[in-house]
Amino acid sequence: MRSPLLSLSTLLIALLLQPSLALAQQSTNIDNDIRLLIKAHKLTGDAAKGIRVPSINSPKAQLGMKLFYSKTLGGDESTACVSCHHPVLGGGDGLSLPIGVGSADPKIIGPNRKMRGNAKVTVPRNAPTTFNIALWKQHMFHDGRIKQLSDYSIMTPDVALDTADSLGGENLVQAQARFPITSMEEMRGSFLKDEMNQTLRRSISDRLKKNWEEMFRVAFDDFDSELDVVITEQNMSEAIADYERSQLFVNNPWKSYVKGNEQAISEQAKRGAKLFFTPKNAGGAGCASCHSGDFFSNEQFYNTAMPQIGNGKHKYEGDTDMDDQGCYLVTKKPGDQYRFRTPSLLNVEMTGPWGHSGAYTSLEAVTEHMLNPIKAAKNYQKKQVKQRGIDFSKTSTNIKTLLKSNIDLKAMPNANQQHVKDLVAFMKTLTDPCVKSRECLSPWIPSADSNDPDGNMLHGLFKRGQRL
Ligand code: HEC
Ligand code: HEC
Repeated sequence: MRSPLLSLSTLLIALLLQPSLALAQQSTNIDNDIRLLIKAHKLTGDAAKGIRVPSINSPKAQLGMKLFYSKTLGGDESTACVSCHHPVLGGGDGLSLPIGVGSADPKIIGPNRKMRGNAKVTVPRNAPTTFNIALWKQHMFHDGRIKQLSDYSIMTPDVALDTADSLGGENLVQAQARFPITSMEEMRGSFLKDEMNQTLRRSISDRLKKNWEEMFRVAFDDFDSELDVVITEQNMSEAIADYERSQLFVNNPWKSYVKGNEQAISEQAKRGAKLFFTPKNAGGAGCASCHSGDFFSNEQFYNTAMPQIGNGKHKYEGDTDMDDQGCYLVTKKPGDQYRFRTPSLLNVEMTGPWGHSGAYTSLEAVTEHMLNPIKAAKNYQKKQVKQRGIDFSKTSTNIKTLLKSNIDLKAMPNANQQHVKDLVAFMKTLTDPCVKSRECLSPWIPSADSNDPDGNMLHGLFKRGQRL
């Protein structure tokens, strides 16, 4: 005969278990919901699937690293690529708007970098990350002015719209690497300022003939050809591109989750994932309509009413309205005004400030913008930008023009603070732990005692006395 005491205790235990049972139930439901979304969006979790990148240990990537860190590539020898794209700073510079030539102290890289004296910052756009750069298939730059054409040739700013640049190189990253040295604000200064881009490039690569021969010969495995054939601007950009393309950082908790590890991300991140991938017409935030696939970008261009700060990119010489019209500057199609390329969100936690001009300095604020662009643009707070020397004189006017333009991004109805927090928690699962560790990143940072061909290597400082 069963004792009444026993059945009472069974009942008690069952009651006690109730809440956790409910929780388990709920979590399997959300996991099931996300599984369905993963299937619908055809995600594999592996953003680098089918893509081969060079190893950082290859001689060409090693040469590329030295070039990337060398001020010899800067017109006035004050600036290197790394001045704006440092691995420890998420492959960017941690600034809203970067500083190239004219910096107060070229050695300082990151949030403490300043213009000399009271000069205003001249570079018009935020420096995107070089991490996972090999994963872009169609466009480089915020406005896509470097583009893969249908026959795999490459369009660049040196040629007419939709035509091939015969010097574009092997891939989009190499095509891109040929331009920062030609930009007056970024690296060139007034060096050979009236010369064509190609003349400038040749002149820069000629500088390398003096001390870089050995490294180029090893990297290109060419010990017989004339020096003129080995040290060229094409080989220079090819090596830089191999260094950049080796920066693959895609092993994040979200990947483990998609591959089946349900413990890899938190419950809050799961709520965020569900919102992110559920379309707006089904009650979600619809982020994946643009931030699509395992790379979190469809590589298309949208007007998201992103506020413009700083100098702006000019439509013609002498243009003073400081408006950056994005993709329109490239295509001249009226519908392309204020459209910018959908950024990838891999490692987005580490690549701030956010937006094409770094207008947002927290992931929460830019997420609020993505949930309700018009409201966010109207209420834009420029005081969130702590960087000195940025021109805000036209920001309010720009925002007014923006609000009258054709905005492609629609608000999520009833978006609230919980949605913001959940989405941010989800986006933080896209961080590869390696990019948070100086030690893990050390293969991409030349050590201070490594070979420095002409004594012009930039070993950046976070501030005086503190190495990056
Ligand atoms: C003064 C800062 C600065 C320097 C120096 C600089 N960059 Fe950049 N970089 C930027 C900015 C700003 C952009 C975005 C420009 C745009 O989209 O119009 C950019 C864009 C890029 C991109 C495209 C990223 C993408 O997602 O499309 C790559 C790759 C890159 N830079 C690599 C380099 C290399 C290689 C060098 C050296 C040869 C270099 N950068 C030097 C600021 C800088
Ligand atoms: C209509 C396409 C579209 C949708 C939908 C969309 N985004 Fe974006 N997102 C963009 C574009 C384009 C940018 C860059 C805009 C710019 O800089 O001018 C951007 C920028 C961002 C950035 C800043 C990234 C960086 O590196 O600067 C984040 C974060 C972001 N989006 C998250 C989201 C989230 C979360 C959602 C859903 C609530 C979302 N986005 C919905 C197109 C979209």
